[in-house]
Amino acid sequence: MQAINASIDVDRGLWSEDIEASLAHAAMLVRQGIIRQADGRKIARGLKRIRKEIEEGRFEFRADLEDIHMNVEARLKTLIGAAAGRLHTARSRNDQVATDFRLWVRGAIDRLDDRLNRLIAALLDRAEEHAATVMPGYTHLQPAQAVTFGHHLMAYVEMFGRDRGRLMDARARLDECPLGAAALAGTSFPIDRAMTAKALGFAQPMRNSIDAVSDRDFALETLAAGAILAVHLSRLAEELVLWTSPGFGFVALGDAFTTGSSIMPQKRNPDAAELIRAKSGRAIAGLTQLLVVLKGLPLTYGKDMQEDKAPTFAALADLQLSLDAMTGMIRNLKADAKAMRAATAAGFLTATDLADWLVRVLDLPFRRAHHAAGRLVRLAEAKGCGLADLGLPDFRRVVPGIGPAVYKVLDIDRSVASRRGLGGTAPNRVRQAIAAARKRSMKR
Ligand code: ARG
Repeated sequence: MQAINASIDVDRGLWSEDIEASLAHAAMLVRQGIIRQADGRKIARGLKRIRKEIEEGRFEFRADLEDIHMNVEARLKTLIGAAAGRLHTARSRNDQVATDFRLWVRGAIDRLDDRLNRLIAALLDRAEEHAATVMPGYTHLQPAQAVTFGHHLMAYVEMFGRDRGRLMDARARLDECPLGAAALAGTSFPIDRAMTAKALGFAQPMRNSIDAVSDRDFALETLAAGAILAVHLSRLAEELVLWTSPGFGFVALGDAFTTGSSIMPQKRNPDAAELIRAKSGRAIAGLTQLLVVLKGLPLTYGKDMQEDKAPTFAALADLQLSLDAMTGMIRNLKADAKAMRAATAAGFLTATDLADWLVRVLDLPFRRAHHAAGRLVRLAEAKGCGLADLGLPDFRRVVPGIGPAVYKVLDIDRSVASRRGLGGTAPNRVRQAIAAARKRSMKR
């Protein structure tokens, strides 16, 4: 029974929140005249001493005492005697754990937000540096049109910005205090729930005691936002894996972020990126696991809910680590602008520009222009050259009206600079986007 019932190995992670919430509860009990001031003082002193013991690694967590709440209370009894027994007045472990866990998740959100902000700052710096560095843009991982590396990085700034927004949305709804719900029905003691809510930094007490001890949607929402964030991280990680592969060679990671092989002396493996890619599994699993734990559970508390912490702790701790590692790699990487430009020579990246030009200048219907550009691509392919290497007679055989102006349209830099509308890849547009993003992140 003890082996399956004890949760201390996991919920010891709530020790700080548990003590903080108990301090707030005890202070409220004193102020409401529910326990004597002298007992309240002893309780507070004892709790602070326990906090110190845990901080200094001198606390013995015991599985026979089941969970963090009982471990702290038992130690309090040893330290201050009978007065310890008054702390649990007008409270249950049900509202206690709901409060502790909310506090922990709120703290985790703030830590993630801080890490996300740092990652975004790193991406913005690199994007600024490479606002005009041309590279092939891909669809289907096939060369499509030229873009700038800065523009590509800014896509992630947008994605991670929305991740921040999702976490903040979750935080806003989470920010209510369950304490005072007691076991499930509230308490007959004249407690002041607004006081404890305020002391713990919550916006207000939760309105329904049954809801307060039953739901873990605050963790679900955070895990859902975390799962999406993890998916975003995995895509950037995968691109780093691709870009650092010699087949691309767009990016090099320094020794600090690569590992060698035990047998192949030449290897520089992007392990951190691969691990971030893989760790997304844990974030997604955490969300799935908690959804399954809660699905179909009757109100109110069920011991099933003790299984809420392990997946949440694991998923959010890994996300924090992944964010740190990703920020490190973004700051560390060296982009090879020459290799990126060289890669734009392949794949006929200006074929769309050519088609658009045939529409604009020679007034061809787009479908015909698209077809003509396609024929020219096949011609260049057959000759083993780029579009710009075709002679004017080649062009004219496909569209008789084409003049020498066509060569300007086939220039990569011109192609990139021409996409200057809102959201486009033109270097000046990218610089504007960076400035706007910097302003937004300063506002928070
Ligand atoms: N360790 C428990 C948990 O994490 C604390 C709440 C226990 N409540 C109870 N009624 N057994 O869920």
